[in-house]
Amino acid sequence: MMMMMMMIALLALLFTSHTYALATKFRGKPFAVTSRPVALHTGEVFNKFGHPQYLPRHVIKDAAKKPIAVTGYKADVVEFEDATGKKIKQSAPLYDCYLHHYGAIVGRMEDLLPFYHQMNGRLGATMPMSHIHAEFEQFVSNTKKGKHSTKKKRVASIGGGSGAEERGTPHVYPPGFAQMADDIDAIMPLMHLINTKGTETVTPAGNSPLLECPCTSSRQFNYANQTIDGKLPNIPFGQCNAQMQVDANPSCAFDTYIQGYRCCEDGVFVIPGDEHGDLLNSEVSHYGMKFTFFYEHAKSNTRALRAPVGCCDVTGDLENFGNIEHDITPACDDTNGDTCVRKFVTRQYLDIPPKSGIGGFGYGNATLTPSDKRAIDAGKKWVDLVYAVGHQHVGGDAAHGIRLIRDATDEVLCTSLPKYGSGTAAGDERGYVTGIKPCIFAEPIRMRSDEVVRIESFYNTTYEHFGVMSLWILQVADVEETVEEVITAA
Ligand SMILES: *[C@@H]1O[C@H](CO)[C@@H](O)[C@H](O)[C@H]1NC(C)=O
Ligand SMILES: *[C@@H]1O[C@H](CO)[C@@H](O)[C@H](O)[C@H]1NC(C)=O
Ligand SMILES: *[C@@H]1O[C@H](CO)[C@@H](O)[C@H](O)[C@H]1NC(C)=O
Repeated sequence: MMMMMMMIALLALLFTSHTYALATKFRGKPFAVTSRPVALHTGEVFNKFGHPQYLPRHVIKDAAKKPIAVTGYKADVVEFEDATGKKIKQSAPLYDCYLHHYGAIVGRMEDLLPFYHQMNGRLGATMPMSHIHAEFEQFVSNTKKGKHSTKKKRVASIGGGSGAEERGTPHVYPPGFAQMADDIDAIMPLMHLINTKGTETVTPAGNSPLLECPCTSSRQFNYANQTIDGKLPNIPFGQCNAQMQVDANPSCAFDTYIQGYRCCEDGVFVIPGDEHGDLLNSEVSHYGMKFTFFYEHAKSNTRALRAPVGCCDVTGDLENFGNIEHDITPACDDTNGDTCVRKFVTRQYLDIPPKSGIGGFGYGNATLTPSDKRAIDAGKKWVDLVYAVGHQHVGGDAAHGIRLIRDATDEVLCTSLPKYGSGTAAGDERGYVTGIKPCIFAEPIRMRSDEVVRIESFYNTTYEHFGVMSLWILQVADVEETVEEVITAA
């Protein structure tokens, strides 16, 4: 009897770990693409799309035959030259080149190239984060308008609010789920890189303070017009939740803004002096990104994952997608046993379309139309959540994890805990978040699109930090059939 029970317990244990192991192993064939090198002076920022590039020939051939099912990917920051100027292509340490965030669209060159020219040519409009996917879709449908309609070609779209910490994070979709792409031949990366190589100052935790994007004296703030260097910031202000407004979190408003993403747009320097052009004489380094994708041919029952949903940013609320960044104000008295870890919290809908049609954190407001509401109530427009990963900022050792919770029941769906580096090797940099744990749901979590989720983000408040983030990247598949339980329950 005893033996039997032990066997069952052991089997249960094996089964659970087996499910997880299965889900975290990459499936299918890999292919890698390295971006073109980006030349950056010391302290200079690159924050836009990299030029579209063709995929390896064998992938293009495969994709021409049958839809491609992208089952996961890896992302890396690379340098193209060593100290002697010799050409290399290897992982760069984050203390030399900080990866603020990234994304990529794998699609067709004929669509990516014009999109690239439009985006990178548009004044003050390098694309930030989550809504690159939606913006691209809209661009393609606009340019194809009027032309004889061909079947819409699907693209694989990754990242958005993902950053340096995702180098050590497995992006693996569970078996049966993939991002579907039709007839793809090219990739366009979005990269936000800061060259901090050779800059001496480090914070007490060991990381460069430049990755929090100081607004140097070169930045021209125009308070009447709310512009920086004559342009409206890429991410509009004034979208913070009520608590952050009460706390007067400086990043929430133009008038109180101190530093962060809005001073980190393409071509600026995060060290003083660029108004005189002096910094253009400084040393140049070449950085970029390497993406490794895994794919198989789509099977008839493979379920398509959408680009990440617009939710979840702790600075937002039920009406606003959010401000993307917030600050950490010192609020710590460690003399009486205070752990100094503070919780930032908000509630948002899991998957409600944006008012503007271009969605995602940092961009506009969520709307639930009466017809959406009726559809959801009738068991339509439900989604299966299969992958969740948090995005928190390095902030020395300040990031302490982020939780995704079903608000109605308090069930914790996922806890994403950052991993810190301890040395100097690329991928293990002391003072930097080098990985963050995702949740991969082999058994998908079925949810209403209008389900309210709670986002709890934890930061150590010993030191002040600017422009940190508390986001979730959530990947869902639409539920095709009507969810019966709801109808019978209603
Ligand atoms: C502010 O905007 C107005 C209207 O566009 C313009 O006339 C004015 O020159 C701007 N002010 C500054 C200081 O740029
Ligand atoms: C918060 O940060 C301070 C300074 O880095 C550190 O000494 C302290 O241990 C941290 N608290 C926790 C709970 O990690
Ligand atoms: C979003 O809604 C808030 C009020 O809830 C409003 O102040 C803000 O201007 C709206 N933003 C956009 C981009 O529509």
